[in-house]
Amino acid sequence: MAETTALPDFLVQKNLAGKSPAEREELLVDPGFGTVFTDHMVDVCWSERGGWHNARVRPYGPITLDPAAAVLHYAQEVFEGMKAYRHAGGGIYTFRPELNARRMNRSARRLSMPEIPEELFLRALRELIAVDGAWVPSNPDQTLYLRPYMYAKEAFLGVRPAKKYDFRVIGSPSGAYFSGGVKPVSIWLSENYARAAKGGTGAAKTGGNYASSLLPQSEAIAQGCDQVVFLDSGGNVEELGGMNVVFVKADGTLVTPDSESILDGVTRNSLLTLAEERGHKVERRGVSLEEWRDGVASGDIAEVFACGTAAVVTPIGTLKGAGFVDEQPSGELGLSLREELTDIQYGRREDSHNWLYRLDA
Ligand SMILES: Cc1ncc(COP(=O)(O)O)c(C=O)c1O
Repeated sequence: MAETTALPDFLVQKNLAGKSPAEREELLVDPGFGTVFTDHMVDVCWSERGGWHNARVRPYGPITLDPAAAVLHYAQEVFEGMKAYRHAGGGIYTFRPELNARRMNRSARRLSMPEIPEELFLRALRELIAVDGAWVPSNPDQTLYLRPYMYAKEAFLGVRPAKKYDFRVIGSPSGAYFSGGVKPVSIWLSENYARAAKGGTGAAKTGGNYASSLLPQSEAIAQGCDQVVFLDSGGNVEELGGMNVVFVKADGTLVTPDSESILDGVTRNSLLTLAEERGHKVERRGVSLEEWRDGVASGDIAEVFACGTAAVVTPIGTLKGAGFVDEQPSGELGLSLREELTDIQYGRREDSHNWLYRLDA
């Protein structure tokens, strides 16, 4: 059942079978991550002839896809991950969305997909919040996780870029990543599997990178670890399955791996800016496994943390590999930067960088 009203270029089809306020509030008590979804979704089509068209906000529900749709066979898809924060003083905001829009377009270029105008990307987020704003939790540390994504829907089994795509945005309320305080994670060093190859798709946020990380992640779990860290073919540290890595040296310098095949995280970028403003030196360069292990052994590395949208900052407590277990030194900088960043995101601290973007006005 749908009722249709027109907006300038988005058509809004209200979900008349959406959750009641009471049902929604119950779901928001403890939403966990990635299993609860709001009542609506954004859907915009792209075709070679029509470009971006048919922009709609529709009731959340299953997608009809031709069994030959290219995404199902050749994985031509890209996505983003971001959050909407409800400020105690009013307003729903997201954080540096233009960086996600640009990264999505870099991913799209790598996967031979059409780019989305930044304004359309931002508008799509605002349109979803206009109908589903009540799904943004008000409990501290909860957010509405936003998942923009694009996939090839043309029915064609030849291997070439598809001629038809869908861009969608869905929203999923999510609870505090760490219930009961931030806990250091243990990391398994994957030496049998790589996440990305030189010239490959490592810098793109595309499903295949995550599909190929599942087996090494299972290996990490089997080894008693929480997460997996990948090396490049030259033995340099890349990143975790879904987070960037930052090393804090004893002299306060922050060092983060730089390579063509790492996903350039918005969280890392922002934390490093905050650290520079506190007077820390920041280096983006290759970091070998030897430098990591020797640095920890000698005391030259004082702290190691991982960062990304979901957890913001996670201290790394242990590095385990074939034949070794290195306990990592614990420091305070990562968590202190985490607090500064989340204070900005939740409106508890002045947004002096203009990083926040209002979604509900
Ligand atoms: C592979 C990978 N690296 C790093 C990150 C961190 O990126 P961001 O800080 O933009 O969330 C992510 C996503 O969270 C990721 O999937």
